Amino acid sequence: MTDKKELRSRAWYGKNDKDGFIHRSWMKNQGFPDHAFDGRPIIGICNTWSELTPCNSGLRVLAEGVKRGVWEAGGFPVEFPVTSLGETQMKPTAMLFRNLLAMDVEECIRAYGIDGVVLLGGCDKTTPGQLMGAASVDLPAIVVSSGPMLNGKWQGKDIGSGTDVWKFSEAVRAGDMTLQDFMAAESGMSRSAGVCMTMGTASTMASLVEAMGLALPTNAALPAVDARRTALAHLTGKRIVEMVEEDLKPSDILTKEAFENAILANAAVGGSTNAVVHLLAIAGRVGVDLTLKDFEIAKDIPLLVNCMPSGKYLMEDFCYAGGMPVILKELGDHLRAAKTVLGKDISDYAKGAENFNEDVIRTMQNPLRPASGLRVLKGNIAPDGAIIKPSAASDHLLVHEGPAHVFESIEDLKATIDDPDLPVTPDTVLVLKGCGPKGYPGMPEVGNMPIPGKLVKQGVRDMVRVSDARMSGTAFGTVVLHVAPEAQAGGPLGLVKTGDMVRLDTLKGTLDILVSDEELAVRRAEWQAEPEQYTRGYARLYIDHVLQADRGADLDFLVGKDTRTPWRESH
Ligand code: FES
Ligand code: MG
Repeated sequence: MTDKKELRSRAWYGKNDKDGFIHRSWMKNQGFPDHAFDGRPIIGICNTWSELTPCNSGLRVLAEGVKRGVWEAGGFPVEFPVTSLGETQMKPTAMLFRNLLAMDVEECIRAYGIDGVVLLGGCDKTTPGQLMGAASVDLPAIVVSSGPMLNGKWQGKDIGSGTDVWKFSEAVRAGDMTLQDFMAAESGMSRSAGVCMTMGTASTMASLVEAMGLALPTNAALPAVDARRTALAHLTGKRIVEMVEEDLKPSDILTKEAFENAILANAAVGGSTNAVVHLLAIAGRVGVDLTLKDFEIAKDIPLLVNCMPSGKYLMEDFCYAGGMPVILKELGDHLRAAKTVLGKDISDYAKGAENFNEDVIRTMQNPLRPASGLRVLKGNIAPDGAIIKPSAASDHLLVHEGPAHVFESIEDLKATIDDPDLPVTPDTVLVLKGCGPKGYPGMPEVGNMPIPGKLVKQGVRDMVRVSDARMSGTAFGTVVLHVAPEAQAGGPLGLVKTGDMVRLDTLKGTLDILVSDEELAVRRAEWQAEPEQYTRGYARLYIDHVLQADRGADLDFLVGKDTRTPWRESH
């Protein structure tokens, strides 16, 4: 190749002076020979392995696979850790720290002498956090996901991460399951390395990463412990070296069309509502003008993947049925032209795909549901939008009018939800405030409020619920989420009172309270924000700078990118 661009890493390792000495010599303490610094591409392996992020516990094995591939292709792999976000372990919510991970990833990629990066993530927030950070530096980047856990098994049945936790816990509250059985199910649910094996946020993001062409085909569904995932990591290591040579960067791949493909794929797989905030945040980094309205393009895309929480199978089944290549094949002409990490069009990923189980992966002619895309709602309590996932909702509640019962905070909800005198009926709309980005803080997954105890005992399993929170990708129900602006930011959700009539029309895309503007103005004059509980450190920074859900809940000063190589030396 003529005019070959000088590799970025040469500004660290290619100099025969004091600075070059320092950069090379200290690296050599790990036993790397001279020729590792001969001008070959240096590939960072950005690892979110942690024992506190059990979903990413298999990433050390995958990092070794990547390294083999990088060496084989003539590169020099260097693995580095970044903060790791354990969805099920962090309080108040891992989402509070997604932007912190993104900052960590961005600054490490920029500050170190690497030419390209392999992103090893999996658990919910790790994939978007890594992509946001990598997109803001824009070096060649490719993803290898953790992969899902093996199917949960208990009492001879498959049980799904998250989804069955919500079901079992309601069954205990209804008196249909013993506490002993409930506790026993724990060990059967999570029985190998890997992410939630339902189509929760982790598998959703892995699927969308594949649909956006940011990972090699089959990345989404291969189980974490399947040897073929280590082989995929090896192939990814080989490919990133070529990507550096081709200078194929996230900005070449993450076009508006790639985001549209992700939105279409999210509908077909029955993916998580969390994909909305994550895609919006990633788009903000690369400067793609993506808004909530763009999610409407998938309105009529049918639900094809029969996995929990929208269906009945699990990710292992999805893998053995053919995985994402089959979905991309089914989407066919719906897909927009978009370049992948292979430098070819996304349609290339579908070549040779075969569906081995048409109950697990339905066809366009025989879908699980005819229309599966997320719906965007607007109205006087959600002027900047809210979303609902119809595929996980109850058909009879998609158009509904009922009186609000308001919980002013999550503590209010927890203290009263099982009160036998709670004034609610199955028609009541449960409204929860104070759970948006600034409110909780971090926009936790509490939007799928429990059904009030007295109604659970009557057999009620779904009600309309409205909040500024998110919900787990593994959850289900007629749940309106991400109301923007949130209550704590002064949004009109904060003005709703118990007894107000709420009207939800998912078909028309509206969400309103039947209260006059005059009355709302009176309430607004009296409204006060809750006092801040988080007054220092990163959480303080987050509360002061977080954007609302309709902008992806990124920090205002992180939107966009800076692709310059640092020009000042370390000594
Ligand atoms: Fe980590 Fe579900 S909790 S992927
Ligand atoms: Mg989650």
